[in-house]
Amino acid sequence: MKRFPHAATVSSKVLGGKLNFPNGITAQNRFMKAAMTERLATYSLDDFKNHGLPTEQILNIYDKWGHGQFGMIITGNVCVDPINLEAAGNAIIFKEGESSKRRNLFSQWAQKIKQDGSLAIMQLSHAGRQASVFVNPTPYGVSDIELKTDPPGSMYGKPIALTTDQIKTEVVDRFVYAAKFAYECGFDGVQLHGAHGYLLTQFTSPTTNNRNDKYGGSIENRNRVIIEIYDEIRKEIPETSGFLIGIKTNSKEFQDKGTTVEDAKQMCIEYEKRGFDFVELTGGTAEKFVFAHQRESTVIREAFFVEFAETIRPVFKNTVVYLTGGFRTTGAMVDAITRNTTQGIGLGRPATAEPDLPKKLLNGDVPSAVKDEFNPNDMIKQIMASGSQIEQMARNSVEGAGGNVMDQITDYSDEKMVALFTEKAAQLFVDAAKDALAGKIPKNIVIMN
Ligand SMILES: Cc1cc2nc3c(=O)[nH]c(=O)nc-3n(C[C@H](O)[C@H](O)[C@H](O)COP(=O)(O)O)c2cc1C
Repeated sequence: MKRFPHAATVSSKVLGGKLNFPNGITAQNRFMKAAMTERLATYSLDDFKNHGLPTEQILNIYDKWGHGQFGMIITGNVCVDPINLEAAGNAIIFKEGESSKRRNLFSQWAQKIKQDGSLAIMQLSHAGRQASVFVNPTPYGVSDIELKTDPPGSMYGKPIALTTDQIKTEVVDRFVYAAKFAYECGFDGVQLHGAHGYLLTQFTSPTTNNRNDKYGGSIENRNRVIIEIYDEIRKEIPETSGFLIGIKTNSKEFQDKGTTVEDAKQMCIEYEKRGFDFVELTGGTAEKFVFAHQRESTVIREAFFVEFAETIRPVFKNTVVYLTGGFRTTGAMVDAITRNTTQGIGLGRPATAEPDLPKKLLNGDVPSAVKDEFNPNDMIKQIMASGSQIEQMARNSVEGAGGNVMDQITDYSDEKMVALFTEKAAQLFVDAAKDALAGKIPKNIVIMN
């Protein structure tokens, strides 16, 4: 297995330091498993009781990560609305689907995550205009501005703008219901998905929000829905409960007229003031993928958004900051924490190649993540490959795999496996196009989150 090159052997001790949240809760170390969509829940639009239920496969995945010694594990996006999904197979929490069965399955999910001391955090999301067209061709949006992808495609329908009243009933109330559900199922907190172009970002970004009510115009107005969700969750689950509320937010959108670093800073000032327990900094939208370096200057420090994070970082006094995207070596992770660019390190793709990467880094068994042989700029393929590793993790529990968390996970540092995957992925696209033409849902294409 080939690994990312590293300049020198650096002690990972700093990464093992505890992280204290403002409400007194502690993460056992600095690692966070970033949200990655699983798309393995049940999908049954005409039977809501059996729609969006976590499956045995999802429990198996988190059994693996639950053995990885992360400080915090964030689920893939759990949707708060039954039809505005990022994709078929999203897990969903919604009042129309309330049942003891759903509660039981989500409780098992939390337990899998917590078995070795990780904090279990559920990412809550509403896809808005980024709902898969195969699930919903007429999704809700903040405004009726359609998502145009590059290269152009028709993966998304034209959105219907939410009315002011619907922002309460279809957005705020649904997030609050799901957060309470997560709390009652034993999750330690929730993370609002306020990044990568999903509904909450559609409020904050001027490219998607042309409203002229109290949710449009100034950055204060565009950020309002997030503050309302936070306040309403806190009314139901007070700070004294120890339940964490965080947000994943874009440090920059990298597109014309998109959210700027200055906007992001203003939003973060408000999150700190309000009492958010943690913020995860990331960047980009489905219109502009940025899970790779945008500037030469960030390459050496690995994290894609390191320069933006440094601009925003001084805003935070109590709110704990995580930075996600690009971290691959102990050296760069330790450097980011030592410089106080971030307090926590989010890992996405490296954690699908190795569900127990934190354990190995902390023990000093390895100095860096597995280095795959994909072209670093071919993000779609990399994301799909990570999605396929998630599916491989789903096949067995840790016990079923004889204690081996790496069971069945493809090693993409092997060029032959990359070639094989490339062939299969091409076929997958052909099959997906056929399915789409036949009106069927193409299930297994992991696009972007
Ligand atoms: C397969 C896959 C699925 C993802 N799904 C989500 C998601 O559900 N929610 C989210 O906020 N980010 C999602 N992401 C983005 C990751 O959380 C992370 O921000 C991104 O991969 C960059 O980190 P990395 O360079 O460590 O991979 C996904 C990424 C991948 C590879």
